[in-house]
Amino acid sequence: MVLLGGVCDRGRARHAAAAAGPKMQGFPARREGVIECLLCPTTKAIFCMSDRKLFVTTALPYANGNFHIGHIMEYIQADIWVRMQRMHGHEVYFVGADDAHGAPIMIAAEKAGKTPQQFVAEIAAGRKQYLDGFHIAFDNWHSTDGPENHALAQAIYRDLRANGLIVTKTIEQFFDPQKGMFLPDRFIKGECPKCGAQDQYGDSCEACGAVYAPTELKNPYSALSGATPVLKSSEHYFFKLSDPRCSAFLEAWTSEPGRLQPEVLNKIREWFVPDEEGKSRLADWDISRDAPYFGIEIPDAPGKYFYVWLDAPIGYLASLKNYFGKIGKDYDAFMADPEVEQYHFIGKDIIYFHTLFWPATLHFSGRKTPTKVFVHGFLTVNNGEKMSKSRGTGLDPLKYLQLGMNPEWLRYYLAAKLSSRNEDIDFNADDFMARVNA
Ligand code: 2FM
Ligand code: ZN
Repeated sequence: MVLLGGVCDRGRARHAAAAAGPKMQGFPARREGVIECLLCPTTKAIFCMSDRKLFVTTALPYANGNFHIGHIMEYIQADIWVRMQRMHGHEVYFVGADDAHGAPIMIAAEKAGKTPQQFVAEIAAGRKQYLDGFHIAFDNWHSTDGPENHALAQAIYRDLRANGLIVTKTIEQFFDPQKGMFLPDRFIKGECPKCGAQDQYGDSCEACGAVYAPTELKNPYSALSGATPVLKSSEHYFFKLSDPRCSAFLEAWTSEPGRLQPEVLNKIREWFVPDEEGKSRLADWDISRDAPYFGIEIPDAPGKYFYVWLDAPIGYLASLKNYFGKIGKDYDAFMADPEVEQYHFIGKDIIYFHTLFWPATLHFSGRKTPTKVFVHGFLTVNNGEKMSKSRGTGLDPLKYLQLGMNPEWLRYYLAAKLSSRNEDIDFNADDFMARVNA
């Protein structure tokens, strides 16, 4: 009979030695446990148990669309890792949530004739069929618009402010006089200042690749109303990342052995090289947006909201807190336990947020910082092409399930192709068939 979680004599001896030996850096000593065999309750199985407590997350998807295959790939990667940790006897909490805030979601809701709350609730209602369909077993799925996130974001902000790391500055930005709102870069269009191409976004040109500020566009117009935007000044709140305490902490935190994949560390290292004047390259981070904005109000700052990227990762904590509320577990005690390990699975496009802004936010507000951030590449098709709906090369996860394809095939295929490296992996139908049939 197979004893689930059981170990052979050799394994038992190895674990006894490990338990007696020196503690691995950062990890508590292992111990053995005894469980009843699931198949035959009278038989006891000895398994390796540990005191390790793990808090695991995947990146929170924007609540303005259904899951795409990239989301599902990340969830499958994390879900497999979580299952492996649980088989080792570790205590694991695996949570996700919708990233509900921000101007694009507010604007999409308005277009759909809904309140942002109604809009994101409808998106949330569609999540379960994907997660269940691909056997992705989050312990909890929450929303960054939940009450826990409002409270946590405000508490974290207050702690950063008390630590002298919040400053205000007056900045000038484009304002749509017809809509009565400041325009995010993506909602300002005009002619590229470099090549003159028409209808380019406010941050970069798709024709020549130039990157610029929206104020450099020629003949700018609002993508919302068509009106010509005007420059208007407003007070913004900044996280003072230029403070020497931040660069000192981040340089040490990121280079801790094992914290980041080597290729990720190489990518962010440039931030720690002082500029020509010997100053930190870490610029202060603008964390506020003016009303109207779908987000969390900044304490003591009427009409100002947290920029979505400030409260989004705090949503990891909020989802865990929400879950602990459901199961009657003490969130504060858990997060105060120095032995709790915190892991984030993310894609390569959001490295900066998770390896610089997020650890700094946590550390300087007096909270636990992530143990590791696991970065994966993108899923491409046909030897490295970006998936495209219009070219018919998209892979719709729901369609996959509706066609009656076995979710385990995709789980297995992705598990076989993913690695610990931050590199793109390619989906190829012939390769998929060959691997699954092998
Ligand atoms: O890039 C994105 O899709 C973001 N919604 C990811 C947020 S991850 C975390 F910070 F919440
Ligand atoms: Zn251009």
